[in-house]
Amino acid sequence: MRESDLALDDAARAELAAFQHALAVDSTQDWALSVPVPARGCAVFVADAQRAGRGRRGRAWQTDPQGALAFTVSRRFGLPPARLAPLGPAAGVAVARALAALGLGTVRVKWPNDLVVDDAKLGGILIEARGDAVAIGIGVNLDVAAMPHLGQPWTDLRRAGCGEGDRARVLGALLRGLLPALASFERDGFPVFAAEWARFDALAGRPVRVLAGGAALEGVALGVEADGGLRVRHADGERVHHAGEVSVRVAA
Ligand code: BTN
Repeated sequence: MRESDLALDDAARAELAAFQHALAVDSTQDWALSVPVPARGCAVFVADAQRAGRGRRGRAWQTDPQGALAFTVSRRFGLPPARLAPLGPAAGVAVARALAALGLGTVRVKWPNDLVVDDAKLGGILIEARGDAVAIGIGVNLDVAAMPHLGQPWTDLRRAGCGEGDRARVLGALLRGLLPALASFERDGFPVFAAEWARFDALAGRPVRVLAGGAALEGVALGVEADGGLRVRHADGERVHHAGEVSVRVAA
């Protein structure tokens, strides 16, 4: 795959400093973090197959090499940790917006950044920072034979009725949405994304179970906070939970 296959527009091209494609790597995330991050703009690393793809919370991310898109965008953010914290939900909104523009009107984001259709996992986002380099790894199921390791309902773009799921077409659409969105996140912060969260929120108003350590707390999800946390109404009052500290399941 070449950059010219992606049909990028001027806004995305202005943000793209480097594009690398490989047939197979261990993880595009590790690849992106093993090389210097551009001084400005984004570097994009895409692989047809990952031998040791990684998901959130230390899980493996194994996908069918023929049927999934796996890529990482790396970039510097000149932001203090508190302003960088909501990048996960912001990236979720940007990717969901791009998938909706491709025709997938049913895509939703399950906080903090799982991509779902009717509660079935379509893809996910893994964000890792090393110094001032940030790697945003994205996996999207295009036409997957099986996801035996996942342990939860899953879907793909073909099953969700969104075209052929051609890898370059989908990657191009995601980069057209994501690259300018990352620049806007750095410049203007989370508020614009927070305002759009409600359009894609998979949990709003639903009963959820918040898991932290060994404990499980029942509640009702109330949307995202300005700091990217999930606001939940529990029996004893409202609380804001933060990614990395808890995981959240739909309760019923
Ligand atoms: C999740 O657990 O939901 C996040 C999945 C993120 C997977 C992507 S695939 C491209 C990039 N490389 C990796 O090793 N992981 C991310």
